[in-house]
Amino acid sequence: MRVLLTGAAGFIGSRIAVALRSAGHEVVAVDTMLPAAHGPAAEPPPQCHLVDIRDRDALKPLLEGVDVVCHQAAVVGAGVDAADAPSYAGHNDFGTAVLLAEMYAARCTRLVLASSMVVYGQGGYDCPEHGPVDPAARTRADLDAGVFEHRCPIGGERLRWHLVVEDAPLRPRSLYAASKAAQEHFALAWVESGAGSVVALRYHNVYGPNMPRDTPYSGVAAIFRSQLESGQRPRVFEDGGQMRDFVHVDDVAAANLAAVGAGLDGFNAFNVCSGRPVSIMEVATRLCEARGAGEPVVTGQYRSGDVRHIVASPEHAAQALGFRAAIDPRDGLAEFAFAPLRQPSHT
Ligand code: UD1
Repeated sequence: MRVLLTGAAGFIGSRIAVALRSAGHEVVAVDTMLPAAHGPAAEPPPQCHLVDIRDRDALKPLLEGVDVVCHQAAVVGAGVDAADAPSYAGHNDFGTAVLLAEMYAARCTRLVLASSMVVYGQGGYDCPEHGPVDPAARTRADLDAGVFEHRCPIGGERLRWHLVVEDAPLRPRSLYAASKAAQEHFALAWVESGAGSVVALRYHNVYGPNMPRDTPYSGVAAIFRSQLESGQRPRVFEDGGQMRDFVHVDDVAAANLAAVGAGLDGFNAFNVCSGRPVSIMEVATRLCEARGAGEPVVTGQYRSGDVRHIVASPEHAAQALGFRAAIDPRDGLAEFAFAPLRQPSHT
């Protein structure tokens, strides 16, 4: 198939390009080489068009004869402050809207969309007394006292996490999350209008070689990895019991390959995760062990707005896409301890 791949020069997009080409697909690669991701004045890699997807005229000829669009281009991270809002809305939402309109004009009817677990917001929780509940927001008093678990909004009991499934409500809590939820909504509206079909892949915590180095937009794996490289021990916030699902970038590429080949009708969303949740303490410990670097430091600090636990079920993707992650995060993180990172983006 002929696949238009946006964000093809990025950490995830570049691995998808390799996976698609290895499987025999023809890849039309585009990237706008955002300075925040690639550094100032970075050139696109060979075989990659320098295109901002908001530029209709540039997009139009590239969509000719394309069977599927695999849309990875996005401003990522959580957003530093409110000044980032136009950037998220512009690149992620207006960009997706232009892409969908141009796909419609070109009669290209299939989209694979990079979404994120951040669309769920808090994750899923059970109360030992009241069953599944929406957690009450964590109070400053609890956090300052080292009580990091959410409490039941009915009786105040401490909650336990459960795996999130795809029909959980979307409750975005950051600029990035808002932009990802809006992308899904634009894509769903496009499907409802009869324009085509969409597979939205909700990535969990992606890690792997060539992950961008520690920046204000980096996830925790890159931060720990950078700390270790500069001789510091990883600094674990809260009590380290926060649960996440770390999925290797090559598994994310495999999920995209499966979605491109699946030919599903309508709008379908899938968790893309390893199915093997780990705590942040385990992540730090695994990286320290691999580098022979002693123990992580548990600081007890917390960041306002952080999610306590977010872990998901991989079953729907296994059943409908035939995708199961191959790399156990415990093995993948040990390898990641020495993997190359992309150079700092702000220098
Ligand atoms: C992160 C991203 C999110 C992205 C998602 C999936 C950020 C801020 N969030 O969400 O946008 O969609 O991954 O890839 O980039 N922590 C430490 N020490 C540190 C930094 C963080 O212990 O130095 C802890 C945090 O308190 C948190 C956990 O690690 O509990 C995960 O943090 P992080 O990777 O930043 O955010 P996620 O919520 O997982």
